[in-house]
Amino acid sequence: MKKKIVIALGLVLVIIQFFRIDKENPSYEMENDFIMITNPPELVKGILKNSCYDCHSFETKYPWYTNVAPVSWWIKHHINEGRDELNFSEWATFELKRKNHKLDEIVEMVEEGEMPMSSYTWMHSEARLTDEQKTALINWTKSLQ
Ligand code: HEC
Repeated sequence: MKKKIVIALGLVLVIIQFFRIDKENPSYEMENDFIMITNPPELVKGILKNSCYDCHSFETKYPWYTNVAPVSWWIKHHINEGRDELNFSEWATFELKRKNHKLDEIVEMVEEGEMPMSSYTWMHSEARLTDEQKTALINWTKSLQ
């Protein structure tokens, strides 16, 4: 019985590998991009690219484990949700009110340590923010308002 369950589970794991996520980044206009428009200092630019752009832009980089279901489905879900909430690649298309609201949210999320998501920094230790990086990002974001 036990052996049968193990074999069945193994089969399920093999079969779900055929359900791959779409890893093609949609095309976007560089002139709509947040970094292009706001031109932050190198430090802040690096933070945004390293810690936020994988989920909040159309410039997502997909590491090897995004080939492995069901982890890949879970990651893709975060990327879709992140882009829905705030897509830096479409910044120029936001209304002024939405832009200001998102800037507020960035400050809040980073202050509270909610972003970058901990499930992300668990695999991407380079995306973890030091206190200095947080302060730099927060102060710069506030200066845009
Ligand atoms: C692993 C993917 C991921 C990364 C990396 C990530 N985010 Fe998010 N972000 C999400 C998801 C998913 C949501 C929506 C759900 C939630 O709020 O938890 C979100 C929500 C947000 C929101 C809220 C938008 C709103 O209006 O409510 C802001 C602001 C935000 N993220 C900023 C950032 C910043 C800044 C970084 C980098 C320092 C970052 N995120 C890194 C996935 C991510």
